[in-house]
Amino acid sequence: MANKVTVSAPGKLILSGEHSVVYGYPALLTAIGRRCWVKAEQITKPEIKINDQQFGTETISLPKLKQFAHKAQKAWEEFDRTNQIARLRFIKEDALGLAKLALAEALDQVKKPTGLRVAIRSEIPIGSGMGSSAALAIALIAAILKLHTGRFDREQINRSAFEVEKKIHGRPSGGDNTIVTFGGVMKFQRGKDPEAISVNDEATGPYWIIQTGKPEESTGEMVSRVRRRKEAPATRAKIKAILQALGKVTERFIIAFQNSDKASLNQLVGENERLLEQLGVVSAATKRLIRELEKRGVVAKVCGAGGVKEKSGVVLVLPAGERKASNRLENLETLAIAINQKGVSFETA
Ligand code: PMV
Repeated sequence: MANKVTVSAPGKLILSGEHSVVYGYPALLTAIGRRCWVKAEQITKPEIKINDQQFGTETISLPKLKQFAHKAQKAWEEFDRTNQIARLRFIKEDALGLAKLALAEALDQVKKPTGLRVAIRSEIPIGSGMGSSAALAIALIAAILKLHTGRFDREQINRSAFEVEKKIHGRPSGGDNTIVTFGGVMKFQRGKDPEAISVNDEATGPYWIIQTGKPEESTGEMVSRVRRRKEAPATRAKIKAILQALGKVTERFIIAFQNSDKASLNQLVGENERLLEQLGVVSAATKRLIRELEKRGVVAKVCGAGGVKEKSGVVLVLPAGERKASNRLENLETLAIAINQKGVSFETA
């Protein structure tokens, strides 16, 4: 068995259906052309050396790693009982908290865990709705399982990553880890098998994103915010209707996507954004930006959990008709995004 392996996993975008996917409605997700890379190597010393290009370096013993994971599990159970997402804050406050949980989750499934040296590098903006946490968890889990067992079982990787995602986001839908594991473009709905959506080139773009900046709120906080409003007597009926409408918009979006129907896609992105605004996940500054774009004939929507205090993560942009987005968005930080990319994969045997 090789004692070294390199794995990469893609980021993701939610083309339609964020938030409503948490309540059982469908979402359309795509793996994107920005990836997270993990190099892992077995070492004789019984310790784990983590080196993350962005988040620093730490060496931790196996028992300490297990302790951290145990504490996170207890905190999640408390969160599940109380709905207080702050219980999970200590995990994010540890710069390598996510990496440690993913490593512990994978090592928990192998008979004889060995020492490890792990190097992490990511091209995916952190905490901006592009699946950075799922990509890191999946690349790490895939690398560690492959090193110890020689196997590469996507179902197992996906299940394990979902356990890690729960400690980071509270009650995620599972969409992020599933698209990052399997890749492509996918209709994801809780409780159903994910459905691969075939991509007709004409439907695929150009897709652009604008970076409004990392939201102050985490995904878990935004999901909890919607849940509170969904449960509060004063807002219950309104939120339920918005979630249902988001589900319908997504169903129509998937059909328009499959038919390369750009006019409908444009209209649906606009409708989707209005519903997300009513749901209360878009900041005033981001709404102003999107109104400004609309005046210039460009439709856009928040992509991912959003943010209300100031920034809202990335905004997906569809240019109207055949006009080029780049000419209209010259003063903004825009990025062309390749969709329909491969899921987690090995670079070396
Ligand atoms: O912002 P992101 O990439 O973490 O996406 C969150 C998507 C939500 O639908 C809001 C939550 C979820 O778990 O699906």
